[in-house]
Amino acid sequence: MSDQHTARIAVIGGTGMNQWPGLDIREQRIVETPYGKPSAPLLIGNIHGIDAVFLARHGEGHTLPPHAINYRANIWALRETGVKSVVAIAAVGGIAPWFPPAAVAAPVDLVDYTWGRVHSYSDGSGDHVQHIEFNAPYHTRVRRELVHAALAAKIDIIDGGVMGITQGPRLESPAEIKRMQRDGCDMVGMTGMPEAALACELGLEYACLALSVNWACGIGTGEIHAEIAQSIEQGMSKVRRILQGALPVLAGSR
Ligand code: HPA
Repeated sequence: MSDQHTARIAVIGGTGMNQWPGLDIREQRIVETPYGKPSAPLLIGNIHGIDAVFLARHGEGHTLPPHAINYRANIWALRETGVKSVVAIAAVGGIAPWFPPAAVAAPVDLVDYTWGRVHSYSDGSGDHVQHIEFNAPYHTRVRRELVHAALAAKIDIIDGGVMGITQGPRLESPAEIKRMQRDGCDMVGMTGMPEAALACELGLEYACLALSVNWACGIGTGEIHAEIAQSIEQGMSKVRRILQGALPVLAGSR
């Protein structure tokens, strides 16, 4: 008999969501994986009657910068806990004119500009090489449920958009954002990869709720850090309400 808790849905919280207010935590699980330790203990609990897991991507005290996150350990630990679906929360900069601060999107595709991160479980140390298909980096059904939940709660959400993921931790230059625009990116973040690809390698249903917290460099006229401070709380309350609506469906699925 095990008294360990489990849940099929996980939320990975990023900047602005280092905790999940309302989650009644039943267990804080410290997990060791073959790839080392995740960013933080997994918080396994119940919210609005649904069992769920929360992981703080940047660590408990928000101490891990995007390039120092152990993405492999994070995704492995969630899978080990029985998780099937993951909603990744990402604070991003808006590039497209339709993505101002405090707006929310469920992106449909991505471009990876990161470098030097361990980006696969197929790292040459095992005995098989996996070439995953990545034609839908964000899981179609999970995305759809997030969009439905937003609309049902009368929260505006952009159904789509392409996320460009940069290395960080510095913000981009104006020319870098122009290049990303030419590449078709609508928003820019620093943590979306390799997280999405690793989730795909392990067969998890992974989608993202992206919150614009500033105009990307050279797009707006405001001061980026001031914009972030202003928009993060307003935007995160929308994110939490969308999660509340989507959770029952996601948890009951499959
Ligand atoms: N660039 C990259 N990552 C970000 C930004 C940005 O402007 N805002 C929030 N995360």
